[in-house]
This record gives sequence, structure tokens and C-alpha cells, in this order.
Amino acid sequence: MENKVFEDIVHLLQGADWLYNYPMTQVFTRNIFTHMPVEWQKALTDLPLDVLNGLPQCLTQDQWPSSLKVFLQECQRLSCLSPDLGPQTSGGSRRGSSSSNVSGSSSSSSSSSNLQIPQELTYGLTVKKKHEITTLLSIVKEMLDLTGSKHILDIGSGKGYIDSCIHRILHAQVLGVEGNCKLMRSAEKHHWKLYGRCRGITFLNWYLSDNTETLCRAEQLVSYLTELDTTCSCQTSPKRGTSSAKVASKTVSSSNIDGRESKSSNHECSDSPDSFTDSESSMGNGSVCSENRCVLLGLHACADLSPIIIKVFRDCVQASSLVLLSCCYHKMSLRPKAADDPASDKQESQCKGSDDTEGHEGLTLRKLRRRCVRKSGFEDFSEYKRNIFDNYEFQKTGSDGTPMESVPNSESTLNMNEDKILERNTHISATLDTCFENHKHYFPLIEPLTGLQLALQPVIEILVQMDRLIYLKECGFSRVWLEKVFDAEVSPRNIALLAVR
Ligand SMILES: C[S@@+](CC[C@H](N)C(=O)[O-])C[C@H]1O[C@@H](n2cnc3c(N)ncnc32)[C@H](O)[C@@H]1O
Repeated sequence: MENKVFEDIVHLLQGADWLYNYPMTQVFTRNIFTHMPVEWQKALTDLPLDVLNGLPQCLTQDQWPSSLKVFLQECQRLSCLSPDLGPQTSGGSRRGSSSSNVSGSSSSSSSSSNLQIPQELTYGLTVKKKHEITTLLSIVKEMLDLTGSKHILDIGSGKGYIDSCIHRILHAQVLGVEGNCKLMRSAEKHHWKLYGRCRGITFLNWYLSDNTETLCRAEQLVSYLTELDTTCSCQTSPKRGTSSAKVASKTVSSSNIDGRESKSSNHECSDSPDSFTDSESSMGNGSVCSENRCVLLGLHACADLSPIIIKVFRDCVQASSLVLLSCCYHKMSLRPKAADDPASDKQESQCKGSDDTEGHEGLTLRKLRRRCVRKSGFEDFSEYKRNIFDNYEFQKTGSDGTPMESVPNSESTLNMNEDKILERNTHISATLDTCFENHKHYFPLIEPLTGLQLALQPVIEILVQMDRLIYLKECGFSRVWLEKVFDAEVSPRNIALLAVR
């Protein structure tokens, strides 16, 4: 069944290649609309607003051609989680009951046992964030109970809102790892301001990379984390004002994990996040006592961070379980599969033969002026072009649309004399005019095209999630499942990858 859904999605995507497999800025240069079936073009031109808005939800109209209706129905069907991807019910779900809801539109049954967040921890939280935290607290609690773990490693912890809640409510020892130093500091301040410094919660500035060094260090970090004293030293009553002076007796910093990762200066703190005393790190061995294990958490782990977290889970025997919610799939790097990439063999075999590597060299725009006036509408195309020439510089791009770093200085507008700039702009302007004339009759189809892409987006995201699930199964993990954890109305990207070692 799992394989059938996978195959159906791949089949759908292969047939709809023209709809998604290119950068949006190349819609016209790649003549994308010529790939849209003519009967679709007729049906989708001049749609009333409510019908247009229904496209992302796969809502169809009776009079539409059957191929379009079938496509949207397939998008609808395949964007739902099939029950066999959910928690296994032999002996119940992960919680030991059979009350799982994997494909329903509402959040999972865990929400029925939502834990309450103390009021002081809800300040500044959006409704979405509060809902996510409340729901995840239940899931994390169940993972802790199920595995006997007492520690949480939150990777990509951001401002650490959920970490404060986990520590405060579930009394687990939490380590939040965050690649952005400002966010890491903000997380520290947030917790200290409320409860003072505490040895039970730590934030570490570390940008994880996709390499073996990161995996080794993550393993050491988990080993170290799980040996820490779990006694909470938070001030019992919420504190407003400056942080407490009570400093952890033994906790974690980037300086006491063996070795140092080469970090981008954008991400690295100039000074160490905290001063800690114990610099020993000890590796976990094969048999791990449950207390020495941790739950691995990634909430909105963006782009390539999710596969990295999966690799950490795969390799780190002390990671008892995984709770992973991914986001920013469109920012994932496109590169050939490495030997240990979390992409299943299944995906590889399905995707062989589909070639999307056709190269195009083109131009992109780089903002020239800092305060360029942004107009929401332009009277005509020449006004639009004028704005572009006044405020942006054209740069050469490679086949993937990213600017070429090695554009010779002589070709940069900044180093051209006026005649040269005029000559170049005249050429670009004429090319743009031709492009405009050739394609303007397709303009009414731009929004429907976007609507169709949005209908397909959840299907692609499910495919990525399934691929990760199958990958972990191929690695020998049997207790892995996907689950809708949030209310889709509140937090639409709501499918978690859950695993127990
Ligand atoms: C979308 S935010 C989510 C933050 C937090 N978990 C939440 O839900 O509020 C993703 C976070 O992951 C961090 N991040 C992304 N890639 C990372 C990496 N490779 N190593 C460490 N942190 C990373 C980002 O800086 C960002 O704060």
C-alpha cells in the first residue's frame, strides 16, 4: 500500500512535470504554457475569484475537462496520508491505544490530552505557535514516557519557546541547538527572564552541517547531554527582570564538545554562550540505559536541516526517538544523492529516467539601490521596465538560476561606460519587449498556474515525507510513522515524522 501510494505520486508528478519542475522566473523563457493542455487553458481562463481560490483546495467545476478534474482529484487523494503510514496499531499506536487519526483533517488524538502552558510562557506566542507547542508537548511527553528518556535535544530551536515549555511542564532536561546566534541568545534570555538560569535547560549556538563531523559531534553531544544532572534549578516563581545568578554546575557549551565545527561567521557567536565547568564528553556504547537516552526534536526544521536531523537519529544510539516537523522544502539543496543521504532506494529507482537537469544560462536581477521604490502596480510594460533598469542590475546566472559568482568585472554594469550600458540595456529591453508580446496572451493563466502548483504542493511534500519514512525503514527502523499532529486550519504544514528506536 505504502509502495502503491509512492508509485502513484511519482506517476502523477512525472505526468505534471511542466507544472512544477523549473524556477517560476522561467515560466515564459521555457514556454511553460505551451505544455498546458489546450482544454485546460480554455477552462482556466477568466475564472471567477471564488473558483480561482478553490484551485489550491482541488475544488473542481462540472464543466471542466475530465483530465483536469482527474488531475485535481488525484492531488486531493494523494495529499492525504494513507492509514498504513500512520502509527501501527499492534498493541496500539505509540501511546498504546488504537485511537490514532492519521489521515483526518484535524489534529491527532494527542490534542485531546493537551497539557496546559503556564500563562507566563504564552506571552508573545501567536495562536499558531501556542497550538503547535501545546500539541507537541503531549507527543514529546509520550515519547519520553515510552522510551524512559529524560532528555530532549531540540535541533534548530529558534527562540526556544517550546524548550522552555518542555522543561517547565515535562521537567525534562533540554538542550536547544540553534545555528543563529541571535536567536540562541534570545532563547536564553527568554528562559532566564522567566525562571532564572537553570541547569536543566541549555541553549547552544551550533550550525549543523551535512557531514560526518557533524554526526560525530552530535553523537558526543547527546552522550554528554544524557549524563547531565537533571535536577531543575529554575526559580519556582516566574521572575521578571534580570537573570538569576544561579549558574549551572555542569552543562553544555560549544567549547566542551570535542573538536570544533567550521561555522559560517553569520551563524557563530563571537563569544561562548555560557561558561561551564565540565569539559569531559563521553561516548555512548552499544547498550544504553533508558535514562541515558534522549528524544530528538525538530520543529519546523527547515530545508536541509531535516535530513541532517534524520541522519543524527540514524547514527546516534542514544537518541531514543524522533519527533520531526519539516518546512521550507523548496529550499532543500538539489544535488546528486550521496551514499548516506536520507533518500530511500525506492525514490532513487522511481526517479531514474526522469531528466530535469536541462541547463539554461540566463540573467537575474540584483537590487541596486537600497531604498528602491516598490510599486504594486504599473501602468504599462515600459513603466515596469523603467523601474527595473533604474533599480536593479542584471547578472548572469547559471543553469540552476543562481547568479554566477565569476561574472567578469568588465561585464558588471558598475564597470561599464554609459554607451556600453545603453547598448546592453537596449538589447535587454528589446528582448523583454519580444518576450512580453509573445506571451502576454498567457498572462490570465499565471494565477491559475499558481493555483495548480499549490494543489500539487502537499503531494510533493508527502512524497518527501514518505521517502524519509521509507529511508528509515530501509535503515532497519521498524517503528516509524507519519502523523497529522496539528489542526490544519491553524498550522497547515502539520505532518510529523515520528520514530522510536
Ligand atoms: C523555522 S525555524 C524554527 C525554530 C523553532 N524550532 C520553532 O519552531 O519556533 C528553523 C530554525 O532552524 C535553524 N537552523 C536552520 N538550519 C540549521 C542548522 N543547519 N543548524 C542549526 N540550526 C539551524 C534556523 O536558524 C531557525 O532558527
